[in-house]
Amino acid sequence: MTQGKASAPAKIILFGEHFVVYGNPAILASIDKRIFVRACIRSDKEDRISIRSDIGMAGQYDGNGEFMISKGGVESKATLDPLYSAIKRILLARNSRTGIEIGISSRVPPGVGLGSSAASCVATVAAVDSLFQKKPNKHKICELAIESEKLIHKTTSGADCYVSTFGGLIKYQCKSKGFKKLETKRSFPLVVANTGIKHSTGDLVAGVRKFKDRNHVLFNNLAKQASDICFQASIALKSGKRYRVGQLMNENHTILQQIGVSHHKAEDLIEICRNSGAVGAKITGAGGGGSVIALAGTREDRTVVASRIQAAGYDSFEVEIDQKGLIV
Ligand code: PMV
Repeated sequence: MTQGKASAPAKIILFGEHFVVYGNPAILASIDKRIFVRACIRSDKEDRISIRSDIGMAGQYDGNGEFMISKGGVESKATLDPLYSAIKRILLARNSRTGIEIGISSRVPPGVGLGSSAASCVATVAAVDSLFQKKPNKHKICELAIESEKLIHKTTSGADCYVSTFGGLIKYQCKSKGFKKLETKRSFPLVVANTGIKHSTGDLVAGVRKFKDRNHVLFNNLAKQASDICFQASIALKSGKRYRVGQLMNENHTILQQIGVSHHKAEDLIEICRNSGAVGAKITGAGGGGSVIALAGTREDRTVVASRIQAAGYDSFEVEIDQKGLIV
């Protein structure tokens, strides 16, 4: 095989972000926005690895791992390094020094809490791996993607890579406990709204760690509340109780405000969502800007929420839960 292809979905975190870093549960869903990756063995027999993404970043790593930017400035290196490291791990495992060209096409806004880096890592690992073997081992792909994600933020919970690889609505606690798929009786009309403020997950997670170190008792108390919310939310999700899920999203957001990861634009968006009929709204992902999710009572209401967000000058889109996860 000289060419491999894979795609992986973006994600939203419905409950439990940040606390999941400390082994507490979270509920995530993969969504119908994907990142597509094409991997080709270089025809010129050189051992260079080039990566080009349609989010305006491109560069090339020579045989010694030296990086040369061709597009996107210094930000390119930070974004492409984890992908390069994932590719190198596969080549090492295969004892191969072949050169590879990667092309990435993304439908996911980067840096706003929708798991674009995890989806890129998962799809890149899978596309390169498919050059060497036909049947993907999803667990192995997910493991390798998590290792690469650690270059972006060292203490990643791994939740983003899991949901992007396996798809659906999942309850995740930690790598050793794995994840559980949640089957639901009803669909959940969700909207994503983007503050337009890019965040650094690593910096936000570090900020929460500082908060935890200074406010031990309060943090443990909030973590307990967030875990209880997850527990109740998994019951409400399974039985299709949209209003209860919305209420729990609002409660989860109050906890996120207390650990200091909200942002005035996220608060603005949440108010718009709630005032236009959403049954619940909260930050999704690391926060500090990023994205907000809102749950509507019906699909019609969801369209109203999405259009009100747009009328206020923000980007928003309606999302469905993706059931497929990684596709090779
Ligand atoms: O904002 P994102 O997509 O990078 O999500 C980060 C989720 C956190 O819980 C804040 C960190 C983690 O590793 O789970």
